[in-house]
Amino acid sequence: MTIGIDKLSFYTSEYVLDLVDLAQKRGDDPDKYTIGIGQDKQAVIPNYEDVVTMGANAAVQIVEEDDRKNIDMIIFATESGIDNSKSSALYVQKLLKLSEFSRTIEIKQACYAGTYGVMQARDYVATHPDKRVLVIASDIARYGLGTPGEVTQGGGAIAMIIAKNPKIAAINPDSVYMSQDVADFWRPIDRSEAIVDGHLSTDIYKEMFLTLWKRYQQQTGYVLDDFLGFAFHLPYTKMGKKAFSQIINEANESRQELLSENLIASQKFSRDVGNLYTGSVYLSLLSLLTYGQELAGGDRLAIFSYGSGAEAELYSITLQENFHEYVLGNVIEKKLAKRIKVSVDEYEKIFSDQLYDSHRNVTSDFKNKEYFEFLGWKNGERQY
Ligand code: HMG
Repeated sequence: MTIGIDKLSFYTSEYVLDLVDLAQKRGDDPDKYTIGIGQDKQAVIPNYEDVVTMGANAAVQIVEEDDRKNIDMIIFATESGIDNSKSSALYVQKLLKLSEFSRTIEIKQACYAGTYGVMQARDYVATHPDKRVLVIASDIARYGLGTPGEVTQGGGAIAMIIAKNPKIAAINPDSVYMSQDVADFWRPIDRSEAIVDGHLSTDIYKEMFLTLWKRYQQQTGYVLDDFLGFAFHLPYTKMGKKAFSQIINEANESRQELLSENLIASQKFSRDVGNLYTGSVYLSLLSLLTYGQELAGGDRLAIFSYGSGAEAELYSITLQENFHEYVLGNVIEKKLAKRIKVSVDEYEKIFSDQLYDSHRNVTSDFKNKEYFEFLGWKNGERQY
């Protein structure tokens, strides 16, 4: 039985910060941000959005009547959850009017958790072939104003439906994974910003990718020439480039060229949105599926997922015939282009929670769909 990604969608807020503006305000050379780090823009998340609204707003774009009947598991991956007890998946179940006869759970392991969710979903469908699993990966990446990590902030949500006979890509049973207790990035429960040893985190990411790539080749016999593209977890786009440059020479000359073009293709959306933590690697996949060159049904792509702390997984997917018809990339491109640019002053106010509902403009994108937002508190519980 073929199991994989049947549907894939993305949502982020309507506000965006130009990183050249940020560089100027911080007294940095803009080239450091746009070339050295590889980020042009960053999603700014206002306080009427959180991981639940973004997750629900991503999922509502792909959940249709047929899915409603057959989804009996909702897996919500996040490291910026809204409650220490209740799962964000329960809120999504209610907002999207999904069946109450379902398992709803939230999972955490930094940015890696989205991939764990995908693997759990795949295993579940293997034993329940007529069921569909909704996997959501939603986060807000925060490091703090004026910190080195500031340029690598961002936020948004990915939603996927994992099912048999998928329309987009089959998930191949070839995963290699590893985990190690490393203090590269963490967020104690009383803090809203991450603590990070940025350079250590970059080194561990590169090391884990190389180790897993070698292990993958040993276990599967595949070589780089067997792949048309890679989707990397992208805390910033240069990170994927740094990791990939360790192995690119293993491909033949023409394949090196194609893989390099497709690496740039896989980074386009992230360049304009920033880090999504759990969803980031799947935004990279969405970007690769949208802009990748020479991709066709039967082609093999690699996915490298990394979460600080640290845990990583490398696996491959096989594109399905006509996958292009089911990838919503062009819709996303238009939505990103329509976002409202905020000044650095406005961004700082939104970041510090001083601006609420400043200039809302969501209407047109949600014409035929429900749009979800945070409305306030009741008995200490967030209301949507
Ligand atoms: P930094 O120390 O300010 O930057 O922070 P830098 O001095 O290392 O410079 C960055 C790059 O810009 C360098 O290039 C410079 O040469 C270049 P590189 O050597 O790396 O190729 N540069 C310039 N280029 C052109 N013109 C110029 C110029 N000046 C310098 N004028 C850092 C960078 C990424 C460390 C920081 O932003 C940070 O701490 N970010 C957060 C941590 C992070 O994203 N880590 C990535 C790996 S860990 C991960 O992916 C997991 C994560 O998503 C969390 C989770 O799992 O939950 C973060």
